Amino acid sequence: AAAQEVVKVGLILPMTGPFASTGRQVSAGAKAFIAAKGDTVAGKKIELIIRDDAGVADQTRRIAQELVVNDGAKVLAGFGLTPLAMSVAPVATQAKIPTIVMAAGTASITKASEYITRTSGTLPQYSVPVGTWAAENGIKKVVTLVSDYGPGIDAEKWFTKEFKAKGGEIVEAVRVPLQNPDFAPFLQRVRDAKPDAVFVFLPSGVGSLFMKQFADRGLADAGIKLIATGDVTDDDILNSMGRPAIGTITGHFYATAHDSPENKAYVEGFEKANNGMRPNFMSVGGYDGMALIYAALEKTKGDASGPAFIAAVKGLSWTSPRGPVSIDPETRDIIQNIYVREVKEVNGQLHNVEFKTFEALKDPEKAEA
Ligand code: DHB
Repeated sequence: AAAQEVVKVGLILPMTGPFASTGRQVSAGAKAFIAAKGDTVAGKKIELIIRDDAGVADQTRRIAQELVVNDGAKVLAGFGLTPLAMSVAPVATQAKIPTIVMAAGTASITKASEYITRTSGTLPQYSVPVGTWAAENGIKKVVTLVSDYGPGIDAEKWFTKEFKAKGGEIVEAVRVPLQNPDFAPFLQRVRDAKPDAVFVFLPSGVGSLFMKQFADRGLADAGIKLIATGDVTDDDILNSMGRPAIGTITGHFYATAHDSPENKAYVEGFEKANNGMRPNFMSVGGYDGMALIYAALEKTKGDASGPAFIAAVKGLSWTSPRGPVSIDPETRDIIQNIYVREVKEVNGQLHNVEFKTFEALKDPEKAEA
């Protein structure tokens, strides 16, 4: 055998198109891990092959097949949106290829193939703590407003379930199109319903336009509080949202401002390598996806074959820039802290400032079954 064999990791992401910020962040996070830990593990050299699917599911699946059949990729990773991850599940199953979801967040994705695992998280995970916080902090009536596809429907369902169980009332449920949304007519419906708060999920990258229209339509002036999953106040674009974002309450697994030595080192290295770009939660999904690959290969002594790799993934645990994480041996989903945060100005910059921690949450959707 060769003294050093290569394990190729095919990273498929939207590097162009409306969700290019996701591709930029996830790929930069994956590269940051290799820069920090080196490109060799268990005697194997790790080679990243980054491919752009432009956010189109047919492309994701075609690229996945090419990477496995033509390029000899042993691991597939990335997946910026739920439909892109779902399109690859049959490839993962048929070719027994370990497939690591670093970004997408619909709970059901890990059920689509036993070769899929995940280092992002699920919308039920992020939404339940926001429901708890709202019910315990004087909010009685809420309108939900979500993107009309997998993660939005999960967010709506789990926020609603938790908020109602704790005594809250949902006065209206609004769903907006994923592509090219104009929020104005939907925000008018929210305003007319006169809730105490609006709970929002939108995918990463879309929050700026929403925040602008939220302010322009006078919802804050009408006394309607904005609560959301952290996808809306994504650290990559938070500074550009300006003052209207201040006071927004969100739930998520990562904030650039997370206070730990691991995160301080991560943010410094990331900003230096990326011209000052702030790492957001997507980048940490990419970074931890590589951490998972390295830890699994160490456990298998370099064996990247599907059954051995996936067996090794189950029960792995490590300290991420986000805090302690582990892989649920039953579901292959990530168990992690979810933080409730408030957007505040810190040293002239807008940040998601964590103030409450829900520790070691499993995906609620699977815990229920
Ligand atoms: C998904 C996409 C996002 O950009 C995000 O922030 C959360 C979930 C998704 O499509 O699963």
